[in-house]
Amino acid sequence: MGFTMGLNLLLLLAMVATNILSLYHLSTTMITTKPTGNPNPPVPDHLLRQLQTIRATINHLTRHQPNPVSTTPSTTTTTAPSDLLLYTQLSPIASACRHHPDLLHQYMNYTPFSPCPASSSSAGEPLILRGCHPLPRRRCFSLTTNKHPSQLPANPFSPVPENSILWTNYKFKDLHSLNPDLGFDLKIEKTRFLNSKSDLDLPISQLIDIAKKSKSVLRLGLDIGGGTATFAAQMKEQNVTVITTTMSLGAPYNEMAALRGLVPLHMPLQQRLPVFDGVVDLVRCGHAVNRWIPVQALEFMLYDVDRVLRGGGFLWVDRFFSKSVDLDKVYGPLIGKLGYKKVKWAVGKKTDASGVKNGEVYLTALLQKPVSR
Ligand SMILES: *[C@@H]1O[C@H](CO)[C@@H](O)[C@H](O)[C@H]1NC(C)=O
Repeated sequence: MGFTMGLNLLLLLAMVATNILSLYHLSTTMITTKPTGNPNPPVPDHLLRQLQTIRATINHLTRHQPNPVSTTPSTTTTTAPSDLLLYTQLSPIASACRHHPDLLHQYMNYTPFSPCPASSSSAGEPLILRGCHPLPRRRCFSLTTNKHPSQLPANPFSPVPENSILWTNYKFKDLHSLNPDLGFDLKIEKTRFLNSKSDLDLPISQLIDIAKKSKSVLRLGLDIGGGTATFAAQMKEQNVTVITTTMSLGAPYNEMAALRGLVPLHMPLQQRLPVFDGVVDLVRCGHAVNRWIPVQALEFMLYDVDRVLRGGGFLWVDRFFSKSVDLDKVYGPLIGKLGYKKVKWAVGKKTDASGVKNGEVYLTALLQKPVSR
């Protein structure tokens, strides 16, 4: 038993090390490889070898895994499923928490079994953004406003009862003080995604037509970095269910989406999308997805999008911005790696001050995932 455990630990270490190595190799190859004309460059030998090692190690591990039912003595039987224990040990993501002890301390500073401190929700967000998802959450009761949301709107464009937002989390104290461009002015939001002012726009009517023409029904969607969930609101009018990932950085985006009756997923861009493989018809990446994200993180995100999209599903890259030269050299080839059909590919100059200064362009692309590989 002790020997098996020792061996398992050793193999586990080996596996983690090889994984890290391949990650390192992948990232270095990505940086040093110049884009070539060949869309499918051969996989380097060392990567293939590492992949074989990883697979062999996993096979070995699973063969040697003691069967928890038959070999665990009854005295040490716990109610925790063995899978859970295994993955708790493996989870490398939690290590992100260790790198931010100050934030973690601030977050965990509370009196158990009493109401959470006033800044509680906002203290969690910096940790989540750094890849640390401290669970289980505190043993304190999350705060609510003492105002009952008397009339929640049935329509996502009707005014929301803003006194049911816990404003202690924010610098501003009401919706009117927020910049109207942020998505909190529902009169402005009502017209979004409906019209086409330039080639960079893709009105919803056009999106639905394209889907219909390719006999690909839109029922379920995911909007990444979707702010106050206006895309979901407009799609709701089309009887399409869209869930929205959004943070509450500086403004109550999650609360607003929820008050509008739309599902807000509080998660940052680097997190795995919490849906199963191949289950959504459409993924939209909004303005939050742009050149500010590290290229590796963006690549991981795109592959996760690919994971959750069903065959024939659509990826809508909505106004991704980067330097013009990077779009040609880095981001274009990166998106190209997915092997999706380009239904729309429009590039236009970003004409605001920082766009002009940095030679930036916008890309709006509608891409369709192949039905089979
Ligand atoms: C959405 O569903 C409702 C109820 O079934 C229906 O009346 C309406 O026409 C549908 N709207 C669209 C755009 O399909």
